[in-house]
Amino acid sequence: MEYNMQGKSALIIGGGGGSGRLTSLMLSQEGVNVVVGDINEEDGQETVAIIKEAGGEACFIRVNAVNEEDIIAAVKLCEDKYGGLHYAANIVGTNLDWSDITTVSAENFDKMMQICTRSVFFGIKHQIPAMLRSGGGSIVNMACAGAGRIVKPFQGSYSTCKFGVLALTKTAALAFADKGIRVNCVGPQVMLSTNLQKYLDKDPHFADNMLAEVPMNRFIEYREVSSTYMFLFSEWAGAITGMLVNVDGGDSAD
Ligand SMILES: NC(=O)c1ccc[n+]([C@@H]2O[C@H](COP(=O)([O-])OP(=O)(O)OC[C@H]3O[C@@H](n4cnc5c(N)ncnc54)[C@H](O)[C@@H]3O)[C@@H](O)[C@H]2O)c1
Repeated sequence: MEYNMQGKSALIIGGGGGSGRLTSLMLSQEGVNVVVGDINEEDGQETVAIIKEAGGEACFIRVNAVNEEDIIAAVKLCEDKYGGLHYAANIVGTNLDWSDITTVSAENFDKMMQICTRSVFFGIKHQIPAMLRSGGGSIVNMACAGAGRIVKPFQGSYSTCKFGVLALTKTAALAFADKGIRVNCVGPQVMLSTNLQKYLDKDPHFADNMLAEVPMNRFIEYREVSSTYMFLFSEWAGAITGMLVNVDGGDSAD
């Protein structure tokens, strides 16, 4: 399948690791110039080095995704250096509370709303005007299969944040559907992320309950998530906007 992305530009917020790094690499292999934005400079620079070693073009900017001015600077870099913005991914997110809602601290709730939801708000807010200047584009946000209709009892605050991502995605998609802008989100479930791995290192049975509800009974891999990002960026998904595409081993099938 040809993606026809040669010469376009992308901004990946959270491109220093996980699915963000892989998505950055996949885009660059299609001839896309990539701005890698991440809070972790070492990891972000490593993504750039991997891309350049493979013959692609990329640069890094340090971004704390909860700061609006950082997102503005990242978008500006993409336009100044690569002449526009066509694809953007807002991937940053975290779950600080694996408990029911009665025990979530106000501090953790606020932090999660900032990291998961405010980051996507700033992303969409500043990426869309740049894409309009570039003649159109596609944004893909990181939601969660739990942002659809699955809510787990021990992920109350996390699901709330990710429902927010879905709402931001849908409202932006509808507002700009006739202006050449598409906005979608991807919803993994039990993706073997760096964050999840940390919990598994402490307790190998940490994810047993979650996996028990996944019909495929296995972790979702980064490549399965990043390839969905690529499809949603591409013209093959040209009529898809405002959607949550779950990559969840069948969790949301019933
Ligand atoms: N693991 C799962 O089962 C699962 C399920 C659904 C959704 N998710 C979502 O997936 C995302 C994580 O994906 P991943 O594993 O590909 O990524 P990751 O957590 O491995 O890495 C994401 C990148 O974001 C960067 N980052 C963290 N905070 C940042 C900030 N404030 N500003 C800028 N960059 C920041 C990190 O340095 C890292 O490079 C999160 O949004 C999470 O909520 C995970």
